[in-house]
Amino acid sequence: PVMDDLSGWREREVQLAEKLNIAHCTIVPGDSTAPTGSLMGMGQAAGQVLTDQLPLGKSTVAVMGGHTMAAVASALTPALSVNRQLLFVPARGGVGESPAIQANAVSAQMAQQTNGEFRSLFVPEQLTIATYKPLFAEPAIHEVLQLIAQSNVVIHGIGQAFVMAKRRKISPHVIADLTAAHAVGEAFGHFFDAEGHVVSKFPRIGVDIADLAAKELVIAVAGGAEKGAAIAAYMHLAPASTWLITDEGAADFVLKK
Ligand code: F6P
Repeated sequence: PVMDDLSGWREREVQLAEKLNIAHCTIVPGDSTAPTGSLMGMGQAAGQVLTDQLPLGKSTVAVMGGHTMAAVASALTPALSVNRQLLFVPARGGVGESPAIQANAVSAQMAQQTNGEFRSLFVPEQLTIATYKPLFAEPAIHEVLQLIAQSNVVIHGIGQAFVMAKRRKISPHVIADLTAAHAVGEAFGHFFDAEGHVVSKFPRIGVDIADLAAKELVIAVAGGAEKGAAIAAYMHLAPASTWLITDEGAADFVLKK
């Protein structure tokens, strides 16, 4: 049902936050993954939450990749930088996604849209431990990893396990493992089942879910009925301080469960 009164809408946001055990939810109208849907509403809502919640002064904002995050980037404006100095960094490696939705591209675009600064991290997401350990010692990479570790704000997406497994070109035997383990969602390179048990984890580069509890502001942006199960599952892992920006498609799915 469409909620046309504001108090009813707010009540639904509170209900969703309670159901997911997190601090805040913002719901935008529609279903972003429907054929006529758009990610722009969630992008604009994220821009508003950032304007209201981002601490004044200096912030280092670590961002993930994906289409939703790219929509958030395109909704930001220089107004966000009033009384703020913003530095955007990718939250993880992620070279391997198509270029426009890589975390590096999203953080660069956010900096451009807000007249902020950015730093890139040129480390692929899928490396063996033997390869990435020496890479970490490279001064240029080490410096960006330090900035990521010191970030006080994180903005990230949530995806469906098998959509993300395909997008990351994960090998058939790992996909078989994910199927056997009933994976439903993915965030920060972690695949998890409906209860939020991590069933597969790719080598850690950058922000880990366990790091989120110490951040000043954590915003998750994900919507669409088809992402409903992944969103609900992720919230078992998320710090309670998480602010979820979603749409009616996902909210209806979660509230009906
Ligand atoms: O690959 C980066 C990432 O943020 C994933 O962690 C997440 O599952 C996905 O992108 C979301 O992508 P989209 O917004 O395109 O659904």
